[in-house]
Amino acid sequence: MKVRPPALDEPLSEFDVEVECLLQAMFLRWGFDFRGYARASLRRRVARYLSEERFDRVCDLQHELIHSEQRSQHFLRGLTINVTDMFRDPVFYKVLREQVIPDLRSHPFLKIWHAGCSTGEEAYSMSILLQEEGLSDRAVIYATDINSQVLERARIGIYHEKQWLVACENYREGGGKTRLEDYMSLGYERFMVDPVLKKNMVFTRHDLVTDQSFGEMHLILCRNVLIYFRHELQERVLTLFYDSLDLGGYLGLGIKESLRAAPVHHNFRTVDAATRVFQRTH
Ligand SMILES: C[S@@+](CC[C@H](N)C(=O)[O-])C[C@H]1O[C@@H](n2cnc3c(N)ncnc32)[C@H](O)[C@@H]1O
Repeated sequence: MKVRPPALDEPLSEFDVEVECLLQAMFLRWGFDFRGYARASLRRRVARYLSEERFDRVCDLQHELIHSEQRSQHFLRGLTINVTDMFRDPVFYKVLREQVIPDLRSHPFLKIWHAGCSTGEEAYSMSILLQEEGLSDRAVIYATDINSQVLERARIGIYHEKQWLVACENYREGGGKTRLEDYMSLGYERFMVDPVLKKNMVFTRHDLVTDQSFGEMHLILCRNVLIYFRHELQERVLTLFYDSLDLGGYLGLGIKESLRAAPVHHNFRTVDAATRVFQRTH
């Protein structure tokens, strides 16, 4: 008789079973819990990791994962997808400016959380927006990610010039009020964020699967992260955001992500359906 884990209802190949064992080992040994991630992309990343690191057999990787914390950290970095941009999906920032910021102005201070901030472009985009809206002095931005390596790059805030044109275009389309050059120094095939943008910004490691909520946020952005999670995990993380939001606080998801996954969706109103901006109403 075949026995399958209840959460996995598709037929499993031998490789799929080996991947399940790797995920279990990562969790049991180091507490990194990828078991709730969507399988198709996770399996592709495991296959790529095996080939890049020249492992012929999954069991060899599994042995190293169990015995070496360094390997487990490296593997974790291989499992996360960190693609991002300044002012990514610029219409989202327009909606923030026009439909969220006017309401947030009434608060004497603002707490904003970027969950899954990757290399920091999204958090710096927010910092620019707050400056332009005259709110930066009363705001704290918490920028978190599971991957410590991308967080370190976020803290440094230096990006390759090949991202520059897209950044400028996005900034304009997102309702930018001056020129992106006003917030960056350019040179040596890089651009660097002005230190003033880092004021009131806290970069810290936080795992959405295993860590607790942050309290009383006025705005939470978690964009293009839930898409990598299975339904049950999306539900858990959306409940975590609900618990972390002040009443009247706002939540921004990625344009392919939905709040409908969670029972807490009854406690939100939709501010803008296309850009997935919601407000906690209960
Ligand atoms: C595709 S990036 C999105 C970056 C940015 N939010 C954006 O939309 O451009 C996804 C990020 O989620 C992070 N991530 C994945 N699993 C996570 C978890 N369990 N807790 C916190 N961050 C996680 C990854 O490390 C990665 O940096």
